[in-house]
This record gives sequence, structure tokens and C-alpha cells, in this order.
Amino acid sequence: MNNSNNTHETKRKKSSISNIVSMKNKEKISVITSYDYWTAKICDNAGIDIILVGDSGGMVMLGYDSTVPVNMKEMLIFTKAVAVGTQRSLIVSDMPFGSYQIDVKHAVKNAIRLIKSGSDAVKLEGGIEMIDKIKAIIDVGIPVMGHIGLKPQTTKLWEGYKVQGNTALSGAKLLREARELEKVGVFAIVLEMVTLEVAELISKNLKIPTIGIGSGPHCDGQVLVLHDMLNLYDKIKPRFVKSYINLSETILNALQSYITDVKTSKFPEDQHSYRMQNKEQEQLFKSRKSMRKKLSSPVRKNE
Ligand code: KIV
Repeated sequence: MNNSNNTHETKRKKSSISNIVSMKNKEKISVITSYDYWTAKICDNAGIDIILVGDSGGMVMLGYDSTVPVNMKEMLIFTKAVAVGTQRSLIVSDMPFGSYQIDVKHAVKNAIRLIKSGSDAVKLEGGIEMIDKIKAIIDVGIPVMGHIGLKPQTTKLWEGYKVQGNTALSGAKLLREARELEKVGVFAIVLEMVTLEVAELISKNLKIPTIGIGSGPHCDGQVLVLHDMLNLYDKIKPRFVKSYINLSETILNALQSYITDVKTSKFPEDQHSYRMQNKEQEQLFKSRKSMRKKLSSPVRKNE
């Protein structure tokens, strides 16, 4: 991060794919999720490198039990709001389940829709089985971030949320997938819940950055779900999440104070209210009779 006096100007410059790729082996990449205007604005001002409009928004914003039900309409709304609140951070939007698996044409069409809504790149889950879709999206000029290891869109349907790459064979398979993704042209790869040894092996063997979530300290960057690190979501608490503040508690306390203020008439105070001019006030209270007369007479044009 730039700590010089002209940080403000530097901060406002939009980050690019090549900026992100060139950070590998120089500076760790910070990634956080956001799904709306105001949190995107805070993330952007904080200096986050990449804002991920994750399909986790389906869970933390819409209350779904998993990311499976999330659709394009919802991702487009999240993306538009984040784009309005972001000046500097690179925006990557998740392609939701069902928006890219059917065929190449469908995948490209939906990737274009996310870019038109303000995203700078898209992310989709999958390794070798998704190579044709990833290639087609990159071929129309859209940068793609890969996502291997635990793939929440489909894992839940098969084995549930489990650590990936804990055997030599599965580790070797993940490395092969990462290499294939790099070869086809993704600019970065998310490694989700991969053992730290395998994540390190992959990170050392690729020229593009790896972004870890529950994959140890050797990845080139880290991503967390914003609501997890702020304690705004309590349905699932993965071990890999670091909690930075308990915002639920802070918000709860603020709301309870507000309720008490309303019930005890402590709010609103004079500073929160609007006053009439004295002259008007006197007239209103003294000559109620003439006012009543005025109000009952027919309204004239321009009155
Ligand atoms: O949707 C999301 O938040 C993600 C992260 C877990 C990487 O894909």
C-alpha cells in the first residue's frame, strides 16, 4: 500500500488486471466480497485490491442456505450496486450456478451481462471440465478468475464442505488443474479450503497469482467474505475466518438505544426538528378562526 502524502490521488486510480498479476512475488493481494453500494465504497476507500461480488451474497444478503439458488438477475443487481460504489478496486463478479455450465454460448452471454453491469472480470468454479467455457469467455475479451479446491456450487450436492488436497493424488490433481487454467489464460485462481502444502506447491508453480480462502499463508493473496470478518453472518462459522469486529453486536446496541430514546421521548431533540418562523407561529396560534376561514374558502388558481 502506498503511504506517501499523495495517497488520495494514487488510491483513485483504477486497478487493472496487469496491476494485479504484477503483484505476484512482490506484494500480497487483498480481496474481499461486497454486494452493495455502501460496503463497496468503504472497501474501495480502504484500499482493497479486488472486490469480489461473490455468489456468497445469496447467503449473506438474501438468506439462502447455499450459493446454489443464486441467479443472474441477483448477481447483476449486486454487481451494478458495487460498480457505483467503486472507483479504484478491481471488480470481479461470480458467475452463479447454472449461468455457465449449459454450453459455451450461454456462458459467454452471461459473462458479457456481468461486464455490462460494471464488473471488470468474472469468476467461475471448475477445473479441466470448464476449460471450454473459460476459453470462450477469454476469447471474447473478458478476463476470468478460476476457482478450484472446494467448489461450493456443486460440492454441497456431492460430499459437503471438506478440505481439499489432503492426499498426494488429490494434491497432484489440483496442481494439474491449476496449470491447465493458467494455460488457457485465467489471470488468477481462487484456492478454496486446500491444504496449505498443496496451496504452496500450486502458488510456487504458477506465474499467475493464487488467492486463498482457508488455504494457508503461502497463497499470493487472501479473500474473505465481508460479512464473516465483520461478524454479520452467524449461520456458518468456518475455522479459516478471522473475526475483525463484532458489527452485529454494535448494530444491536445502537438499535436498542434508539428504541429506548423513542419510547422515553429522548429522540428527536430540538437539533433534529424544524421550526416555523415566530411570526407564522403566532398567527397560527392566535388567529385560528381566520385560518379556518381561509382553509374552507375555495382554492384560487396559483394559491
Ligand atoms: O462467493 C464467494 O464469496 C466466493 C469466495 C468464497 C471465494 O467465491
